[in-house]
Amino acid sequence: MARSAPQAEYDPIAERYAAANAGRPLFGEGIYPFFLSALGDLTGQAVLDLGCGDGEITEKILEYGARSVRGIDAAPEMIRIARRREYGASGRIEYEVGKVGELKEPGRHDLVTGAFLLHYAATKDELCRMCGDIAARLNPQGRFVGIINNPGHPLNPDPRYGNTIRAVREFPLEGDTLFVEGRGGNNEVFQFVNYYWKKETYEWALLENGLTCRWKSIIPPRAAFEKTGEAFWRPFLERPFFIMMECKPC
Ligand SMILES: C[S@@+](CC[C@H](N)C(=O)[O-])C[C@H]1O[C@@H](n2cnc3c(N)ncnc32)[C@H](O)[C@@H]1O
Repeated sequence: MARSAPQAEYDPIAERYAAANAGRPLFGEGIYPFFLSALGDLTGQAVLDLGCGDGEITEKILEYGARSVRGIDAAPEMIRIARRREYGASGRIEYEVGKVGELKEPGRHDLVTGAFLLHYAATKDELCRMCGDIAARLNPQGRFVGIINNPGHPLNPDPRYGNTIRAVREFPLEGDTLFVEGRGGNNEVFQFVNYYWKKETYEWALLENGLTCRWKSIIPPRAAFEKTGEAFWRPFLERPFFIMMECKPC
């Protein structure tokens, strides 16, 4: 099957994605706050946000105290939306169009983030090149923190979370396409694809580039339970279809 480049996928859905993004409780109340708190103290840090999309997390990283923040995304339309947000428009965050795996200039950073990025690799070779670009942009003491589809629970048929994830089989195999369908505020549908890789494959690609990886379960903060109710979160906690990774040079 022909595999589309991420920019080809995201350009037409960029506005719908951005309109839906943090408005979905799973992301706005659960995953993003957890991810940001897991980044720890960002005071004085130079941060690079890869696959920054519409800049939702990128802006928060600056608010959390980072000294400088850059955002890179393969889709020009996503970058256009990020640039019209407050910190994009004021120039406090520098945004660029670029494809991770084929990045050109190699500046070093204390922290590189990639929320929902690495599962866009369509081949193991591409995954390895993406990890190479991450490793090449870290200081020796730097870290990479990412979120991916959880290889242990990759599918989500439950529409309550605003994103369903399906595959051609119940237990996807390496390289299988994952079909993601999201719904925005006006119930507008947007679709894109990801690819399934085992944990071992991510670990291999990272280690090939000198990075070790620790997996971390995503636990929504207490405020999310208070706001949306425990029943909303229970299926996600039982079958968490996203997982976080923290990686360091070894
Ligand atoms: C699901 S969105 C996540 C955006 C943002 N990180 C967030 O959490 O809201 C995934 C983004 O990754 C971008 N992307 C996918 N593959 C990429 C690559 N190889 N290099 C740069 N960006 C990529 C897409 O264009 C899209 O904007």
